[in-house]
Formats: sequence, structure tokens, C-alpha cells
Amino acid sequence: VSIPVVTLDGPTASGKGTVAARVAATLGYHLLDSGALYRLTALSATRAGVPSDAVDALASLAAGLDVRFGDDTIEMGGEDVSRAIREEAIGLFASAIAVHQPVRDALVARQHGFRRAPGLVADGRDMGSVIFPDAPVKVFLTASVEARAARRYKQLKEKGFSANIQDLSEALRERDARDTARAAAPLVAPQGAHRLDTSEMMVDQAVESVLGWCRDAG
Ligand code: C5P
Repeated sequence: VSIPVVTLDGPTASGKGTVAARVAATLGYHLLDSGALYRLTALSATRAGVPSDAVDALASLAAGLDVRFGDDTIEMGGEDVSRAIREEAIGLFASAIAVHQPVRDALVARQHGFRRAPGLVADGRDMGSVIFPDAPVKVFLTASVEARAARRYKQLKEKGFSANIQDLSEALRERDARDTARAAAPLVAPQGAHRLDTSEMMVDQAVESVLGWCRDAG
């Protein structure tokens, strides 16, 4: 039998990361934050001075990522970069390099490697559509730009970053537009996905809905 996967896809700050972590903890499943892989590639590129259109150099950085996911940390080359990759500028750079098919291809095997017993919860943009098309439970999260900007503002403030709602809304729109319009694995609701609008929803409710769909899928 194949190892079960729950996919959570959606735009920036739709709540998928928080919900994914809670669902994984409840089910005792592994967790894949696929966006972190694009962010890590973006961080290495920034540090190495590789521009966002140098496709071959970016793909080899992606293929060669030396990364370790801990419970609360993400280490790259032995350095804890869990804070550095959350910068808004790195998120934007990540979406700029994620348009390149060779960069995406370089990350596929690594993502498949997260599928280990007893199961996996994977969040991103193309988890249900491209990376785990056979996942028994697929969820597509949405939320209004206002709700997402407010959420991202709170997250950044809690991490001690400076932020302003207006700039955040603009960055969200820019990132969403690029993630949705790109030819390579665009952000789409996968076929058969359950839809969840988290604009007005508490985390607990969203988690309960996803767990309910998992139970239904048996
Ligand atoms: O989810 P997160 O905001 O961390 O992702 C950063 C960027 O990485 C996204 O804006 C998107 O362009 C890209 N990404 C992607 N496919 C994924 C996850 C993230 O293209 N599965």
C-alpha cells in the first residue's frame, strides 16, 4: 500500500503552513514545507550573487542544497537559517526563481523523499497538482488579501521583523500574480481538492475540517 499524503495548497499566508503543522502533529505524520525549499534556494542565490534569471546556476544551487530540517530549525550548511528565509524579500525572490522549470525539477526528488511511513502532510503551491497527484486527501486553502496581509503582518511582528500592511498587501498581490500566472506548475486548485476559505476561520476550525476529510478518506 502507498504511504498516505495530505496536500495543502494555496496562496501566500492562506494559513496552510500553520494548518499543515497542526494536522501533521495530530496524525503523527511527517511534514513538508515545500516553500522552504524555494526560500532556501533563494537565500543561497542571494548570498552567492546569482540573479533570478540565471536558470542553470539556480537549478544547481537547488539540486545541491545542504539542508537539515529539525523540529524548530532549518539548517543550511550547518547554519540555522530558519529566520533568514522568512524575510519578505526572500519570499519574493523565491517566487521569482520558482517560475523556472529546471529549478522546480531539481527539487522534485527531495520532496518525494519526505513521503515516509506513517504518512506525510505537504504544503505549498503544487503539492496536489504535480508533486503528489495520487494523494488521497487534497485541500485548497484561500483567504481574502486583507485577511492574509493581516495574518502575515502579525507573523512578521511576532518574529521581530518590521512590517507595514500596505507594503505587505502589495507584496502578496505580486507574489500571487506570479505564482498563478506562471507556466510551470502554477498555483491551481488540484482536481478533487476540498476547498477551505480561511478568511474568517480560526485555526482550530480549519484543522478540524482537514482532519474530518482525512477520516472520510479512511
Ligand atoms: O509558501 P512560501 O511563501 O514559503 O513559498 C515561497 C515561494 O515559493 C512562493 O511564492 C512560490 O513562488 C514558491 N513555491 C512554489 N511551489 C511550492 C511552494 C512554494 O513555487 N510548492
